Amino acid sequence: MTKLWFLSWVLSVWLLLDSIPVDSLGVNWGTMATHPLPPHTVAQMLKDNGFQKVKLFDADESTMSSLAGSSIEVMVAIPNNMLADMNDYNTAKQWVKRNVTVYNFNGGVNIKYVAVGNEPFLASYNNSFTNITFPALQNIQNALNEAGVGDTIKATVPMNADVYFSPDSNPVPSGGLFRDDISGQMTEIVQFLNKNNASFTVNIYPFLSLYANPDFPVDFAFFDGTSKPINDNGVLYTNVFDANFDTLVWALKKIGYGDMPILVGEVGWPTDGDKNANVPYAKRFYNGLSKKLAANLGTPIRPGYLEVYLFGLIDEDAKSVAPGNFERHWGIFRHDGQPKFPMDLSGQGQNKLLVPANNVKYLPQRWCVFNPSATDLSKLADNINYACTFSDCTALGYGSSCNNLDSQGNASYAFNMYFQVQNQQDLSCNFQGLAMITTQNASQGTCDFMIQIASFSSSLRPSEVVLAFIMVPMLFFVL
Ligand SMILES: *[C@@H]1O[C@H](CO)[C@@H](O)[C@H](O)[C@H]1NC(C)=O
Ligand SMILES: *[C@@H]1O[C@H](CO)[C@@H](O)[C@H](O)[C@H]1NC(C)=O
Ligand SMILES: *[C@@H]1O[C@H](CO)[C@@H](O)[C@H](O)[C@H]1NC(C)=O
Ligand SMILES: *[C@@H]1O[C@H](CO)[C@@H](O)[C@H](O)[C@H]1NC(C)=O
Ligand SMILES: *[C@@H]1O[C@H](CO)[C@@H](O)[C@H](O)[C@H]1NC(C)=O
Ligand SMILES: *[C@@H]1O[C@H](CO)[C@@H](O)[C@H](O)[C@H]1NC(C)=O
Repeated sequence: MTKLWFLSWVLSVWLLLDSIPVDSLGVNWGTMATHPLPPHTVAQMLKDNGFQKVKLFDADESTMSSLAGSSIEVMVAIPNNMLADMNDYNTAKQWVKRNVTVYNFNGGVNIKYVAVGNEPFLASYNNSFTNITFPALQNIQNALNEAGVGDTIKATVPMNADVYFSPDSNPVPSGGLFRDDISGQMTEIVQFLNKNNASFTVNIYPFLSLYANPDFPVDFAFFDGTSKPINDNGVLYTNVFDANFDTLVWALKKIGYGDMPILVGEVGWPTDGDKNANVPYAKRFYNGLSKKLAANLGTPIRPGYLEVYLFGLIDEDAKSVAPGNFERHWGIFRHDGQPKFPMDLSGQGQNKLLVPANNVKYLPQRWCVFNPSATDLSKLADNINYACTFSDCTALGYGSSCNNLDSQGNASYAFNMYFQVQNQQDLSCNFQGLAMITTQNASQGTCDFMIQIASFSSSLRPSEVVLAFIMVPMLFFVL
């Protein structure tokens, strides 16, 4: 008996060690979902899967409490809409006191970084944050220093890779430069990061390279080689991740900081919402990335250790789809904390699933579908449009998992998504008599008709949810 127990203990420890991700690997925990999993459930998922680093998009108290007492290294964040406030030093000091130093005790939260803004210089923000990002960064780091934690906690600004580019005259990594309109701000920021021994943070998305350019060579988006590498004065690039990263290294070098530490704040591959957003591609991408990290390969001009945060942990059905329909499908886990595909974060290429969320509470097995005995179909399009304005119908689009449904299937899918977002309230499955509730699983082929999880409490204000959904324009109007 004792022997058996011991054996199973050895086995489970061995299994655990075996599945630990490379220590350079973190993950982004976003919460823009109508039905987020409870924070303690998510924190347990992080631990069960051996993640030692997590990046947040705010400093929400319940999230922070769930991480307390663990050794997981945390990047907390100040959203862009608070950058203006942080231009006042006293406000920045208050923020640091309430959201950082308050957790600095034995059994508290292991905060390593404060992200000041999120991609504030994104070209599509039209310079809204151009002049307020650097002062906010200064104030936060200075407040951390004044509070006596600046040696171990560093402020940084996660940048989109659109802050640098290679000009047409020299379209290789060594051509790398910071964008003209923000080059002054970038130089100030880099000098300040360097003075404080902090890292530069950049988000790199090979998927978006493929999405943005139909002529982009598919193999170059992944890590398993290409027959046509880019030759940069003798340095060969076989994937866009390396090329992109090294373009940044060159841009830094040109302003005198070629050795600045860089961490990759976001990298990942979505699984739905576009023809290139699918499970086989995501699997291929993460497999290649994990192997690369485990082997400490780094990039051609920065070989060695690379700290990266996967984007993201869980699907977020309330994100804006302004960037594209794929935006709600970045999770390595589904909305309910179930892994989507086998993934070996230790880089050994084993075909196994991540550990799912524990004890997830679902709503009952009830779906809302098109009522086949409905006769007046004149209002069908209006009702589908309504359902999709307030729920996530992105899987219906071209190249997505539910794009092959017939028109009744389309209606059923839309009605069900709305019904689930509304916590299956009976009144939310009417649609002027066009819909009915069923206990038969309504899924069809590749298209999963989901059952939502029981609501914990959304961290979103209702107005934010509505705003996000209004961004789905009349995409689903014509049926
Ligand atoms: C702490 O962070 C939260 C979430 O980002 C924010 O709402 C709150 O205002 C912050 N506290 C202070 C005192 O700034
Ligand atoms: C940026 O400018 C464009 C064109 O003028 C406009 O369509 C868009 O709404 C603006 N975006 C923001 C975030 O202000
Ligand atoms: C930023 O500051 C510069 C210099 O003061 C000014 O010319 C520019 O208009 C400002 N940009 C924005 C978007 O406020
Ligand atoms: C930065 O690192 C150097 C070398 O390790 C050290 O001498 C210096 O005090 C550090 N500065 C800050 C602000 O941490
Ligand atoms: C179902 O909806 C999708 C997305 O709006 C559309 O592309 C497709 O043509 C529709 N199918 C039918 C049969 O109406
Ligand atoms: C419904 O059926 C699909 C396809 O067979 C399956 O993947 C899914 O798990 C089922 N959903 C529920 C809630 O049982």
